[in-house]
Amino acid sequence: MEATLRAGVLEHGTVELLNATGLGARMQREGAVHKGIELRFDGRGHRIDFVDLAGGKTIMLYAQHEVLKDLIAARLEAGGAILFEASDAALRDIDGKAPRVTFIQSGRAQEIACDFVAGCDGFHGVCRPSIPQSRRHEYVRVYPFGWFGVLVQAPPSSDELIYAHHPEGFALVSTRSPEIQRLYFQCDPQDDVAKWSDDRIWEQFRSRLATLEGWRPREGPILQKNIVAMRSFVCEPMQHGKLFLAGDAAHIVPPTGAKGLNLAVADVWVLARALVEFYRAGRRDLLEGYSERALARIWRAEYFSWWMTSMLHTFPGNDGFQERLQIAELRYVTTSRPKAVTLAENYVGLPLA
Ligand code: PHB
Repeated sequence: MEATLRAGVLEHGTVELLNATGLGARMQREGAVHKGIELRFDGRGHRIDFVDLAGGKTIMLYAQHEVLKDLIAARLEAGGAILFEASDAALRDIDGKAPRVTFIQSGRAQEIACDFVAGCDGFHGVCRPSIPQSRRHEYVRVYPFGWFGVLVQAPPSSDELIYAHHPEGFALVSTRSPEIQRLYFQCDPQDDVAKWSDDRIWEQFRSRLATLEGWRPREGPILQKNIVAMRSFVCEPMQHGKLFLAGDAAHIVPPTGAKGLNLAVADVWVLARALVEFYRAGRRDLLEGYSERALARIWRAEYFSWWMTSMLHTFPGNDGFQERLQIAELRYVTTSRPKAVTLAENYVGLPLA
């Protein structure tokens, strides 16, 4: 869990929430505040200035697995139990009188009786399929490309993230630390990392990220390679009986908008408040309204992630007309303040309230 590579961008509201809940100390020390991003196309870079365009807000580069380490440490410190290495998890009677989670651990069948179940078990987990098929609807869009991600040992190539649109395909320059960089380029989702030598990878980055001034990424040993599939997915509703889905269990966004972790955090924030009000004041309305409330934000993020993906990638089979529309849109976003505000305010994230 702590080693799996995932995204690295925390929205303004996610950062505030981690700070407010006492989970922000290491993030404040080790994370990097970014005040904008660059959109690069036609050999030129264009800065999107978040501070100016999004009311002073910024984002934090702090890897998702680092957030996870902090969450696990805080939970253990608070005396909470985390059961690792449990298998065969299943939900029973989630719309009945005695909801439970069953699983096997250390070779023994175990059971937890629940008031509520928060289904935070990811896209491939058991929670979403526990909602009867007739009671949920799934909205799906699969993109005809993936991201080839590399972890590189080198100093940063840029102070800010670079999102590049190029006829050969999208490329992204991100970072993990002053020593370790994270870069991606658009690839065939069926491609195999074994077929990509370091030289061939750097050739792609040099070409897709080139500017008229001869910009080049700082190269170094490639420590890890992986291919990320790209899809949009939403399950409605996100609740059934005593089960409440949160995060990837209920929805997926393509990584272009850097929204995945942030959406999960927003779900949990809405759900946590509903649970607190139930136990504090016996209120059921917030729990009943959970899905509707969470979905409003999720669809905004789905839209933003789809829009960024559509604007920046090269679509196999696209004709010249479609490609020129993409360039027109990129020019619009980088020259019109209202258009740039749209990108900036969505990227730094909607308010959690
Ligand atoms: C990352 O650093 O892994 C990253 C950054 C921005 C994205 C996606 C991934 O949009």
